[in-house]
Amino acid sequence: MASAAKKIGVFTSGGDAPGMNAAIRAVVRSGIYYGLEVVGIIRGYEGMINGNAQVMNLRSVSNIIQKGGTILKTSRSTEFMTTEGRDKAAIFLKKENIDGIIAIGGNGTLTGLLEFRKHWDGQMIALPGTIDNDLYGTDYTIGFFTAVQTAIEAIDKIRDTADAHERVFLIEVMGRHAGFIALDSGIAGGAESILIPEVDTEVNRCATMFLDGFKKGKTSSIIVVAEGNSLGRVTNVANRLKETTGIDAKVVIIGHVQRGGSPMVGDRVLASKLGVYAVEMMIEGQDNVMAGEINGQCTLTSIDDAVNNRKLIDPFKLKIASILAI
Ligand code: F6P
Repeated sequence: MASAAKKIGVFTSGGDAPGMNAAIRAVVRSGIYYGLEVVGIIRGYEGMINGNAQVMNLRSVSNIIQKGGTILKTSRSTEFMTTEGRDKAAIFLKKENIDGIIAIGGNGTLTGLLEFRKHWDGQMIALPGTIDNDLYGTDYTIGFFTAVQTAIEAIDKIRDTADAHERVFLIEVMGRHAGFIALDSGIAGGAESILIPEVDTEVNRCATMFLDGFKKGKTSSIIVVAEGNSLGRVTNVANRLKETTGIDAKVVIIGHVQRGGSPMVGDRVLASKLGVYAVEMMIEGQDNVMAGEINGQCTLTSIDDAVNNRKLIDPFKLKIASILAI
């Protein structure tokens, strides 16, 4: 194990997620508690490339645990995808004597770390910060609970108008590659059908689901659609259903609303636990790992495994979603 870092950089990267601020706070406070110097890198990998960072102190993270977004800003850096960009980032870290980094982000952020390994030999620990919940090595990612709550609040409201007008609504939630948000919000919102990337959707089967519901006395229907489902974006799904059934479904895209807002308790506690744990593991000399939580226990997974293994949808949830939709 490497000799442990004394000065660490923390940053957020990729899509923001509610609870990222709670994670930054946990890293900064616990880092200082354990005697480390902590630097906040602004705009993720862009900040490393452009030398944009600030020294953090206990008060830098006051009054942020309840806030959505990220005080360190975030970006999806295209320059970091180039060798030259990653070289520039490594030069900055060396110049600043930063010998450990804690990256808070999703799949793209962790993939960036894997590439960065070839350019920089300091310690790297990741925290799973994404609304998508699609990282292997943790039961939940920071931001997922709040995003699902936001989605079901929207679904509940749409159900009122669907019921009043006796209509079919297709509601698109985020998730280009994973259906975790769709599945949980669909179950919690009582959806008649849930379309997710992990299961190929047959348009006729989807149509049968809600047409059967009407035969059994239902007068309205909600279909939750993950962005990345096999029929395509929600307008495409609506067109396909119209061709098959003649029904004009209303389309709602919840979109980026899901990324904002004050984090729920689950996201705040998860972020706080994992932030402190990541710092403790940094001090222990751990490297190339993601800090996650499995069955309530903090755990480390290699970044390689976190990125290259597919986290599976719970088949029992899929089963109950269709049982309860009859
Ligand atoms: O990865 C988080 C996420 O919100 C996905 O669910 C979504 O597909 C994507 O980001 C949207 O990214 P952007 O805000 O860059 O369009």
